[in-house]
Amino acid sequence: MDKFVIKGGYRLTGEVEISGAKNAGLPLMSACLLTDKECVLEGIPNLKDIETMGKLLTSFGSEIERDKKGNLKIKTVKIKNHEAPYDLVRTMRASVLALGPLVARDGVAKISMPGGCAIGDRPINLHINALKKMGAKIEQSHGYIIATAKRLKGAKIYFDTQTVTGTENIIMAGVLAKGETIIENAAKEPEVVDLVNFLKKMGAKIEGEGTSVIRIEGVDSLGSACHRVIPDRIEAGTYIIATAATCGNVLIKNCEMDHLDALEQKLVEAGVTIQREKNGVRVIGKREIKSVDITTMPYPGFPTDLQAQFMAFMTIAKGLSVIRETIFENRFIHVSELKRMGADITIKDRNAIVKGVEGLNGAPVMVSDLRAGAALVIAGLIAEGETEVLRIYHLDRGYEAMEKKLSKLGAKIKRLKE
Ligand code: EPU
Repeated sequence: MDKFVIKGGYRLTGEVEISGAKNAGLPLMSACLLTDKECVLEGIPNLKDIETMGKLLTSFGSEIERDKKGNLKIKTVKIKNHEAPYDLVRTMRASVLALGPLVARDGVAKISMPGGCAIGDRPINLHINALKKMGAKIEQSHGYIIATAKRLKGAKIYFDTQTVTGTENIIMAGVLAKGETIIENAAKEPEVVDLVNFLKKMGAKIEGEGTSVIRIEGVDSLGSACHRVIPDRIEAGTYIIATAATCGNVLIKNCEMDHLDALEQKLVEAGVTIQREKNGVRVIGKREIKSVDITTMPYPGFPTDLQAQFMAFMTIAKGLSVIRETIFENRFIHVSELKRMGADITIKDRNAIVKGVEGLNGAPVMVSDLRAGAALVIAGLIAEGETEVLRIYHLDRGYEAMEKKLSKLGAKIKRLKE
């Protein structure tokens, strides 16, 4: 296992290029299962989760090739196997994104039930109930969900809770269903919109993406398409927060700041300068940071995937910051690690009350999940002395070349064997 060793106290300066979005790339790859024609996806990052999704598609019978330009070419002439095994699903919950496309194309899918995960229970009941409404027969046996249908039928689906991959799965199920599917209380995340843009290029008929009501008129088949994935707003947000926290000055390139409105407003409130420039977004940190409160919400609210990183930043702000997590019940595991570095944080129900301290000090810390890991890296960058960040395989799932990008910005960070 690898670890990061970070010597803190250096300002980030220079330029950083943001990669394509992991959470858009994963549904785009699974959408390729909906056609027997070749699709080309540009800008898909080199990440462990993308590799896992590649393995999953290959196991279904897809041919996948990364060409010299880095584009992914995916072709699934025939689906030879309809089972997503536990071994893959347990390493990546997003494997559940195969459910919609497999049932839609061939009327059968057998997907291992994802278990709990570090950030919460994360059930998939909403995906399942929606597929049932579309006429799928669902059985659960030996840890697997088995969905079968002759041809899915359009249906009116209301999601009790906004679910990102649930919305994506049902959109992918609806594009080949008979008749109209209407999703109410749909997720509005930019990754959902990106998926719809790709599906439309393949010939799907969809309206309302980016709003809470999405209408899909099923078609008989989809064709080939080429699509460039959107920039990763969470990776961008992580570098923006890291710059602010180290009082740095960085130009963030390939960054869609419109996808980060909530973060921008909170950072400006805290005293950070954010300027849109021709080639990207410039972030200029300030020594004296004001504490601000955040509440995580579905898009366009403050993203839960940036909560931990923002908390690391607030540990050295002036005053009290209340950080409320409303999406996942257990997404405060980073708190005890931040406290080991000298942070003053108290958890009360779903709130973390962060009292700003003069500074953090380096310590060995352990990563529990992807975004908690990003928060600990940020804490390591601001801390005095050396921080060892253990179990960084979580970070490799979602941050492309993180230590290289940070080193280029002047951070003292090394990847070593644990
Ligand atoms: N939920 C249910 N039942 C369901 C589905 C969801 O109760 O059937 C609940 C969840 O337990 C949670 C809420 O609904 O409380 C929202 O979960 P959602 O389904 O939106 O999460 P997800 O689709 O599993 C995606 C991202 C996550 C991100 C969340 C929230 C992907 C591959 N994953 O997960 O990303 O945190 O949306 O924005 O898109 C990450 O990248 O680190 C990550 C965890």
